[in-house]
Amino acid sequence: MRIILYTGKGGVGKTTLSAATALKAAQMGYRTLIISTDPAHSLSDSFDLQLSDEPTSIRENLWGQEINVLKDIHKYWGELQASLSALLVTKGFDNVVADELAVMPGMEEVASLLHVHEKAQSGQFDLIILDCAPTGETIRLISMPDIIDWYIEKMFSISLKGAGIFEPVLKSALAIPGQAVFKAIQTLFGGVTALQAQLIDPAITSIRVVMNPEKMVLKEALRSFTYFSLFGYNVDLVLLNRIVEETGDSELLQSMRTVQAGYISQAKTSFTPVPMKQIPLFVGEIVGLENLEKIAKATFSAQEDPTQVYFQEKIQEVHKLEGGEYLLKRRFPPFEIERFDLRKKGDELILTIGNVRRSIILPQTLAMLEPVKAEFRNGELQVRFR
Ligand SMILES: Nc1ncnc2c1ncn2[C@@H]1O[C@H](COP(=O)(O)OP(=O)(O)OP(=O)(O)O)[C@@H](O)[C@H]1O
Ligand SMILES: [Mg+2]
Repeated sequence: MRIILYTGKGGVGKTTLSAATALKAAQMGYRTLIISTDPAHSLSDSFDLQLSDEPTSIRENLWGQEINVLKDIHKYWGELQASLSALLVTKGFDNVVADELAVMPGMEEVASLLHVHEKAQSGQFDLIILDCAPTGETIRLISMPDIIDWYIEKMFSISLKGAGIFEPVLKSALAIPGQAVFKAIQTLFGGVTALQAQLIDPAITSIRVVMNPEKMVLKEALRSFTYFSLFGYNVDLVLLNRIVEETGDSELLQSMRTVQAGYISQAKTSFTPVPMKQIPLFVGEIVGLENLEKIAKATFSAQEDPTQVYFQEKIQEVHKLEGGEYLLKRRFPPFEIERFDLRKKGDELILTIGNVRRSIILPQTLAMLEPVKAEFRNGELQVRFR
């Protein structure tokens, strides 16, 4: 079972390349499901046929689906939201306020994750390809399991001590309705946690960053690369799309080639050692199976298995130093990591870069020690423990 996510800035070619990959994989015999998690779906347009919110057969071994987020929110959260809201009303909250309070953060992302989890568990597919929304939302999606953890801790353990707005709810957490809510939450998040285990397993999940040779696109691709690494997701391939080929010598084409050449070489340096593919700019619209096949042929060679893990790097190492010290090394892509904050809490190392926060779970040996020095070196976070 493989899960491959295509992500990148708006309009770079995520849908086109994920559809082409799905087509190629299906031709090679993999039972492939391509899912669009982007609320602004364009998978139907790309295949030039009407998909629905459940897997629709496209051709042999290939199914496509556009997630209906509202329906899924209702499916996965409906019961919980209703019981939470009812509980709040019994505690004296106004109906409207109770409804508002019962809306939890990230419901859309959680619903999408649960849907993907369900399909991954079904045993019906060898490969699930996710055509994601532009970068920002994808990062939100994959950081959701962490956020949920935090949220539950805040809501249940902190509030159990009896502070804040949830006090009336949590005083009754031992009563039947409270227990029902708690149980529903556990079931819901059980699914997300199980999916996360698959998402951070590089043998199962790969992230493929799609980009064009342009300044802002490159910058966003690199930033997202840092965040994916931060969350422990494996980026196995970079797809540089819309490359103007050598043919044609109009002034416009020449100047485009010159500009692109600069960003192509910059991209190569920045993403090394992650492999990179270049896909030419085609003339005309890329819509329908025939055109998608052209893109697939330009992307993968005839015998190439597009579901392979193209790259996998060991991202974390621990070395024992002399004098009882240990050195933890964690690789990050070399991108603008100048300022960061690091704190240790129990067996967690909490790293903050910009406005993203990530906890790194420490191996037992390090959990008992204290970090004495931390620095970024050669694209690596190096922390000394004593
Ligand atoms: N290599 C290419 N040559 C020519 N046209 C391309 C190429 N790749 C993509 N396109 C076209 O560019 C447009 C945008 O591509 P696509 O929809 O795949 O991007 P996207 O990243 O999914 O966009 P969005 O962020 O809106 O979801 C489409 O019309 C597509 O047909
Ligand atoms: Mg798209």
